[in-house]
Amino acid sequence: MRTERTQVAIVGAGPAGLLLSHLLHRRGVGSVVLEIRSREYVERRVRAGVLEQGTVDTLMEAGVGERMTREGLPHHGIELRYGGKGHRIAFEKLVPGRRITVYGQQEVVKDLIAARLADGGRIDFEVSDVAVHDIDTDAPAVTYVDASGERVRLECDVIAGCDGFHGVTRQAIPQDALTVYRRDYPFAWLGVLARVRPSTEELIYAYTERGFALHSMRSPEISRFYLQVKPDEDLAEWPDERIWAELKRRLETVPGFTLETGPILEKGVTPMRSFVVEPMQYGRLYLAGDAAHIVPPTGAKGLNLAVADVRVLTEALVSWYRTGSTELLEGYSQACLKRVWRAQHFSWWMTTLLHTFDDDDAYGRRLQLSHLDYVTSSEAAAATLAENYVGLPFERALHD
Ligand code: FAD
Ligand code: PHB
Repeated sequence: MRTERTQVAIVGAGPAGLLLSHLLHRRGVGSVVLEIRSREYVERRVRAGVLEQGTVDTLMEAGVGERMTREGLPHHGIELRYGGKGHRIAFEKLVPGRRITVYGQQEVVKDLIAARLADGGRIDFEVSDVAVHDIDTDAPAVTYVDASGERVRLECDVIAGCDGFHGVTRQAIPQDALTVYRRDYPFAWLGVLARVRPSTEELIYAYTERGFALHSMRSPEISRFYLQVKPDEDLAEWPDERIWAELKRRLETVPGFTLETGPILEKGVTPMRSFVVEPMQYGRLYLAGDAAHIVPPTGAKGLNLAVADVRVLTEALVSWYRTGSTELLEGYSQACLKRVWRAQHFSWWMTTLLHTFDDDDAYGRRLQLSHLDYVTSSEAAAATLAENYVGLPFERALHD
């Protein structure tokens, strides 16, 4: 066994772990990032696409926004499509000066990995058997087996659990020290990446009796789609022709709109759930991003929440290293949870507004339509959607 030492041991090289490592480095704090997957795998994993203004600003300020500025697509509205009509939620009118940027999560991950490696940062890919130890002492450690098969003990001051929903760090916290809040939804999303020019300039969130559909994009040549499907949907039952036929049924519902089709590059099924643990910390272990909370993707909030957590954790760790004060570290969980719960509510709200529920009766469907009519006809209701969608300013959550 080889023994090593760092200041912050970061478990997981998703957006949360990589950004934390990068921000800490810029403030003079060292870290090592441990990742079970290969670099190729994490750089190819297709996931989120919508970045809030605060996320874009954070990446820009951190010096990793150059390619995003060139290739990201700024959007000033989204469309809600139902009942044979499209209704635009116009950010420029409802939340002046705020917008979102469409830029793939794997592009953010590529940019962060490149920046870490250029700065001499250390990311150990393809590790296995990761375990955290002594988190309730002031000398915690992470043990793992590195890519060459050697067992390593990484001693540190603090562990950041950035290993996503299925990671190991949250499991290391005694059950009775955490309160878990969760809700599972009776459907999943079938996500599709296709080599075809987007048939729309802005994202379309479509509510139909056959279920929800979303038309998103990655670039002028690549489109991204999602279909509401059964929670246990078998991908084998979705050959490309069936996917296109179903997308057409759910999206070609307004006069004059034709969905262009093309080769499908990737498809996958994502379960839909809401999940929060409180507090997001135990001893010297701090959870950030999906390790601490999950939202259904309808509100496009998961990646943005991960970035918000990491900003708060960076400030708290830097303050502790510089002054010895634990005040910000002690307030970490509370500072994050305000934003987390706002995103939880918004994501649940968008999900219940736009999906069909098998057990819903005719009354429930009427309520949903009335709600959609309200959101698309009342400026106050539309502004509520717009304000949450573009994201609340980071400062508000940080200093309240
Ligand atoms: P992850 O990205 O899950 O990273 C965790 C990392 O830890 C992974 O690389 C994993 O391999 C690694 N790991 C796991 N276990 C271990 C271990 N034991 N040891 C070491 N490493 C480990 N969010 C948005 O904001 N906007 C969107 O538009 C959006 N759309 C989405 C669409 C889909 C289909 C999905 C699935 C998600 C979407 N999200 C969206 C959510 C977003 O992708 C996540 O919230 C985001 O990935 C969270 O980042 P993270 O770094 O916390 O976790
Ligand atoms: C995406 O482009 O992947 C995307 C966009 C909006 C969402 C979820 C995912 O709400």
